[in-house]
Formats: sequence, structure tokens, C-alpha cells
Amino acid sequence: MINELRAANNTAPFPPPARGVQVSTLRRHMSRLFLRMNERMWQRLPAVLRKTGPGLRYGAFLHDLVKLHSARRQYHGTFFLRNRPELDLLCTIADRCEEGATLRIGVVACSNGAEVYSIAWAIRAARPDLKLIVHAVDISAQVVEIAREGKYPVESQELIGSDIFERLSESEKRQMFEYQDGWMTIKPWLREGIEWHVGDAGDPELARSLGPVDVVVANKFLCHMNPPDAEQCLRKVARLVRPGGYLFVSGVDLDVRTRVAVHSCWTPVPDFLEEIHEGDVSVRRDWPWRYWGLEPFDRTRKDWMIRYASVFQVGGNTQPSDTRVDRDKVVTLPLQADLTGIDSPHHP
Ligand SMILES: C[S@@+](CC[C@H](N)C(=O)[O-])C[C@H]1O[C@@H](n2cnc3c(N)ncnc32)[C@H](O)[C@@H]1O
Repeated sequence: MINELRAANNTAPFPPPARGVQVSTLRRHMSRLFLRMNERMWQRLPAVLRKTGPGLRYGAFLHDLVKLHSARRQYHGTFFLRNRPELDLLCTIADRCEEGATLRIGVVACSNGAEVYSIAWAIRAARPDLKLIVHAVDISAQVVEIAREGKYPVESQELIGSDIFERLSESEKRQMFEYQDGWMTIKPWLREGIEWHVGDAGDPELARSLGPVDVVVANKFLCHMNPPDAEQCLRKVARLVRPGGYLFVSGVDLDVRTRVAVHSCWTPVPDFLEEIHEGDVSVRRDWPWRYWGLEPFDRTRKDWMIRYASVFQVGGNTQPSDTRVDRDKVVTLPLQADLTGIDSPHHP
């Protein structure tokens, strides 16, 4: 019957794939096989060996392969109090503000608001006298609506895919939420001063509508873009920061972040540097087997200071340079990390 149909149409219904397609399918198949075999070997390696120089290099090699063969896609996954050392540094910055000053923060890729409310909770507790203005942006209208409402079911977070409350103690939950009928609702005092926006972090218009802010937090979304797109987006996000302000950026390919930081002459902030890098267990745990996995902090690298910094002081007196990523040069960057830039109650 099939032969009759073929003869009738005078064409093969399933033409054989082109030779190029066959070769690339075979290569993909072989790489997957190779990675699966190596995953078994990696699991058997004692933890202490994984932390040695050769162990780290082996992990980095596997992670490069994983990145090469993984399609990127966006996720909304987030947690309340996701990275505590990062909040400690934000409070340190807030603490240097003058009495009654205004502190402007932009949070891009804010997902369902867990990160934004965590920041507001930490800073308001540390410095209740400050006028805190937060602009929160996400590209998804659906999550921005959830964030604005600030009402979360206790049981399941379908859209988010993670237990957003798992890093909170009972006492922290009581401080942040009102609980009723299976729903956790953000308390009114935490909502004050927050403006929610649907927007693209890479849109140059965003800088115009938000205005330059003292601190920009841009976490865990650039790793879900292809590296060239992430690099372009990161450069645009940095323009949201006022000269001398701070950029918090984690969850991004480390080579991309290092390249942009060096080229743009950002100053890595040394405070809590290692603690912040290690401060989010989920991304550290996923290395080297997920493209978003974060490599362990390796102090033997000459460029560790700039490679593992997640917080930078940007702009100010520094000018963009043509410096290439050069390990020896990078380590000589000035590390004055001045945290005293935000001190005027009448911010320009
Ligand atoms: C994994 S969540 C990260 C949430 C939060 N920043 C955190 O660290 O927990 C990534 C979020 O980035 C958002 N996103 C992706 N691309 C974006 C873009 N170009 N502009 C703004 N938001 C974006 C997604 O909609 C998603 O909600």
C-alpha cells in the first residue's frame, strides 16, 4: 500500500535527512552519552577530590560541555530570603545613608516578588528612617500581577516551580505575612514604596522611565539567555545605576560577567564576596550538571576577585577601557569599594 502511494506521488514520504543533519544528530547523541558516563564518574568521586585543582578543572570542563549542549529557557523560580549575605550587603549599603535619606533600588527580573519583599523587609528592619523606593520589573505580566498582589498559596507554586517559603524561619514568616485559609499575604508595611512594572530589562527606554537608581539588583535571569544576548542585556542593565551606585548581578555566566565588568571598569565590592557567591545553595548544588549551576569559589585563580564578585560599584570616575580579560591585570584593579556614595536626603 505504501509503495503504491509512493508511486502515485512519485516521492518518498519520509526523505532521508541531509548529511549535515545526520552528522550533527550523531555528534549530539555522542556528547550526551559522554556526559552521562562522566556524570556517573563525577558522582563516584569523593567530595574532597572534587575540590582539588584537577577536580575543579574536570568539573569546569564538564560544565562547559553542558552549557554548549543546553538550550536556554526562562524560569520564574525564586525564594524569599534567597541569599542572606546579599541582603546583609544591601543593609550595609543602606546603613551608610544619612538619617532620613532616600534610597532608590531597581530590581529587574523580579518574578513573583519574593526577592523584592525580602529586600524591603531587610532594609526596613535595618533602617526604618530611610525613604525606600523600589522599582520592580519583570518581562512577564503574569508574575508581575502575582507580585503586586503579594498573596501566595502555602501549598503549591505552580508557575514558580520551587517552594518559595523553604528558606524562611517561622518567626520570619510571621514578620512578613498574614496567614489565612491556606494563603500567605504580604503585610501592608512591606508593600509601601514599591512600584511594579512589566518591562524588558534590555529595553533602553527602561532607564528613562525608572531614572538612575542607587542600587540595581539583577539576579538569576541572564544565565537563561544565550551568552551574547546576556552580555548585551547586562551592559544595558548597568545603565540603570547612577554613577557611583551599585549593581548586584548573580545567576549569569561568569565569563560574561567578568568580561563586562573588566571592560566597563566596574569595581568589585569585596565585602561578603565569598559568602554571597556561596549564598544560594540551589545554584551551587546544580554545578556542573545544569547550565545555570555555579562553580565553587576557587581562591587559587588569579582573577578570583573579579570572577566571583556579584556586586560592583559602577560608573563614578571610572571610564570604559579596552582592557581585555587578563588574569594578571584584573587582579590589580583598585578595590577601594567606597560604600559612602548614598548620603543625600535630596537625591539628584
Ligand atoms: C529565575 S527568575 C529570577 C527571580 C529573582 N530575580 C531571583 O533571583 O530569585 C527569572 C525571571 O526573569 C524574568 N525575565 C527574563 N527575561 C527578562 C527580561 N529580559 N527582562 C525582565 N525580566 C526578565 C522572568 O520572567 C523570570 O520571572
